[in-house]
Amino acid sequence: MKLIEAKDYHEMSMLAAEIILDQIKSKTDSVLGLATGGTVLGTYQQLILDHQQNKTSYQHIKTFNLDEYAGLSKQDENSYHAYMKKHFFDEVNIPSSQTFLPNGEAQDMKTECETYDLKIEELGGIDLQLLGIGQNGHIGFNEPGSSFESKTHLVALEQSTREANARYFNSIEDVPTHAVTMGIASIMKSKKILLLASGIQKSSILYDLFHSDVTNSIPATILMNHPDTIIIADQEALSKLH
Ligand code: F6R
Repeated sequence: MKLIEAKDYHEMSMLAAEIILDQIKSKTDSVLGLATGGTVLGTYQQLILDHQQNKTSYQHIKTFNLDEYAGLSKQDENSYHAYMKKHFFDEVNIPSSQTFLPNGEAQDMKTECETYDLKIEELGGIDLQLLGIGQNGHIGFNEPGSSFESKTHLVALEQSTREANARYFNSIEDVPTHAVTMGIASIMKSKKILLLASGIQKSSILYDLFHSDVTNSIPATILMNHPDTIIIADQEALSKLH
């Protein structure tokens, strides 16, 4: 696991975008694994800026998002479908037929999940997976206790995760109780992993991450077993480590 220290959120986002752009330039039909949430927003903004200034093309890129809330329609403004459209897809030249997210409204969730994993395989696997980290150490929505063998599946969200995400909803009651997430095994199959962490609220979990053995009570610790993981964290997120 390689750690890159960034001064602040902006520098973290610039460095992350550089790594993603290197990937896209070295393989113009890369398969990218994408995340939502606050941490990765600045990275998408940098990629959009680059697209406008340097015309980096997404014509042949394919993307798979980590997760989607269960029960929210794609049009719901809090869905991850809507987030991705607004903050990235609508701003670059990626064909919508090449962007994939789990369907949180699928009637048959088991088939939905199996099909999602198969589609990733069919397109050659994920070249670079972008991740944030939950304050409880979750990656995707793989909450503490998740099996390291898990593939894409339906999960119940922890109360702390619902509280952390309530800022986007009118009230905590509106935050879905369940989500569909790529599993830990699905994430670990990615050829390269880029995990971002910013802000004081991530300082405790980063301390734990670097002081713990691999344990499913802190799902992100599994990344230590991955041959090509880069963590970019800013000074606030690293403040308990120094
Ligand atoms: C989002 C996701 C989550 C977030 C994590 C951090 O697709 O999979 O694991 O990356 O909850 O969220 P933020 O960045 O909002 O702190």
